[in-house]
Amino acid sequence: MPRRIIIDTDPGQDDAVAILTALASPEFDVLGITPVAGNVPLDKTVLNARKICEVAGRPDVTIAPGCPRPMVRDLVTAEYVHGKTGLDGYDLPDPTMPVSDRHAVDFIIEAALSSGHKGLTLCTLAPLTNIAMAMVKAPQIVPCIREIVMMGGGHFEGGNVTGTAEFNIYVDPHAAHVVIGSGLPIVMAPLDVTHKATIKRGWLDRVGAVGTPACLATEGWLSFYERYDIERYGDTGGPLHDPCVIAYLLEPELFKAKRVHVAVEIASELTMGATAMDWWRMSGKAPNVSVLHDIDRDGFFDLLLERIARL
Ligand code: BDR
Ligand code: CA
Repeated sequence: MPRRIIIDTDPGQDDAVAILTALASPEFDVLGITPVAGNVPLDKTVLNARKICEVAGRPDVTIAPGCPRPMVRDLVTAEYVHGKTGLDGYDLPDPTMPVSDRHAVDFIIEAALSSGHKGLTLCTLAPLTNIAMAMVKAPQIVPCIREIVMMGGGHFEGGNVTGTAEFNIYVDPHAAHVVIGSGLPIVMAPLDVTHKATIKRGWLDRVGAVGTPACLATEGWLSFYERYDIERYGDTGGPLHDPCVIAYLLEPELFKAKRVHVAVEIASELTMGATAMDWWRMSGKAPNVSVLHDIDRDGFFDLLLERIARL
């Protein structure tokens, strides 16, 4: 039976590739997409999610808009990475598919409760506001969640917003604190693994050569997206952060993981949003997260291309 998933997201070009990969994969039953404020404000992440579903030929997917700001702090966005629209690099027509009138938080709660014990997997590609709010509003959903696979955090790689914090955790550290403290099984794809998932030029050419709308959009988006990372990190290509979440669920053997204790910094402004990982098990605290730290890069890119080409 396909795995029931919700994709919580702030598209974003790398979110877009993750969503396309998921929509192309019969291993998943995508119950819905829940945009949140993150890379760009909420109205744009909702619009982008609709464009992505339409280019995938899936206007039937439920898109339930979520929270327009983090739980406690002010919203921080990342147009400097993703462009003014959040999805610069390939123009698509204005979408016509509907937006659900249910709020993401209620959609997540209803989907969890109707999925039964350990029936729902949450794939989170963005600040964790919607997920934390759902857990705060309806703690009874926790036993219904099989696992949360999230892009976020960093240990040996440090941060990509501040010296110590990764964007998704930094934007809403209080939400991350709630989610990581929930006791649920969590798999985390931090910068330590996503900075190894860097785009090779030849791969983008192969994607474009497929010639379908989804592949042409992917080529355009990622050609734009990777300019920022190449300037910052050098000529290794842009890291495809969010697709690691979907690829892990499809082919976990592409990744190496270590179980460690993770906590989120929510007190110090200096290190706000840092993920404190007890990598060498010094604290005596029980591991609460499986942290992905290595990837079969070629296998990962082959998988993404093979899936997106199906659309
Ligand atoms: C994360 O931040 C966003 O800009 C990306 O979409 C990804 O989810 C990487 O730090
Ligand atoms: Ca994202």
